[in-house]
Amino acid sequence: MPRTPIVARTLPALRRALDGLRARKATVALVPTMGALHDGHIALVRLAQRRASKVVVSIFVNPAQFAPTEDFGSYPRTWKDDVAKLAAEGVDLVWNPDVKTMYPPGFATKIFTEGPATAGLEDRFRPHFFGGVTTVVGKLFTQVRPDFAFFGEKDFQQLRVITRMSRDLDLGVKVSGVSTVRERDGLAMSSRNVYLSPQERAAAPALYRAMKATAKRLKAGDDREAALAGGAALITEAGFVLDYFEARHAESLAPVTSVKDGPVRLLVAAKIGKTRLIDNIGV
Ligand code: PAJ
Repeated sequence: MPRTPIVARTLPALRRALDGLRARKATVALVPTMGALHDGHIALVRLAQRRASKVVVSIFVNPAQFAPTEDFGSYPRTWKDDVAKLAAEGVDLVWNPDVKTMYPPGFATKIFTEGPATAGLEDRFRPHFFGGVTTVVGKLFTQVRPDFAFFGEKDFQQLRVITRMSRDLDLGVKVSGVSTVRERDGLAMSSRNVYLSPQERAAAPALYRAMKATAKRLKAGDDREAALAGGAALITEAGFVLDYFEARHAESLAPVTSVKDGPVRLLVAAKIGKTRLIDNIGV
């Protein structure tokens, strides 16, 4: 029988649970999530378990990272399924604060980062996003004080932003990235994939196919502009409206002119119907 994890919903309950976990010098890994858990999240949990003796998963749909026009209200919430999945994995503690616990009345402090957070990718289309992410992840790190934290490469710019923030603020958390988990047809798993209609779902793997085709051309030495334009055409032909499709340096996220400036990462964001998807691969 899977052991149900401890669920903490208040800061005193979190503190008590962590004191219990930390007895006998346990190391703690944190996996921050917004719930609606899928196999991508579970991959993070499994790596966390390999690294640390205790694993904490946070589930908090963070209003601060959604613009008023975005999907905070309709974001999938699947609490019972989530806890069952985490129990099956043997997760020790689930941190599930409500909005008032995370942002009490009068809350007036934000973390803003530069560098990767102003690379001109997600920040260009979701200007509110990284301020919300860094503020909540900064709070999660100080609340849980983990030794390690795991983030998906699926959200590549987010991974770079949080790695930078943790170092810059001496938060003492070793941040690791985890490879993207995909459906069999190549679509990156995402809590937002449930928004896709059957037709959109059928078209969605075009993102991955286009990135693969573009990476192949870049590796073969094709002209960068032509290769990116070819990839962009595949994406729009599949019915997407493109926000960006770019080749960037995998560490700094600075624009690159050639694969020789690498390691190079291809990053894409595009809308199909009402759903915005992001993905990326290494070249
Ligand atoms: P969420 O979208 O729930 O994702 C939680 C973590 O799972 C992130 O680190 C994300 O990159 C990772 N993840 C999502 N899909 C993945 C996939 N297919 N393969 C591997 N990892 C995947 O990202 C957030 O929540 C929030 O911004 C958060 C960091 C929790 C702050 O609110």
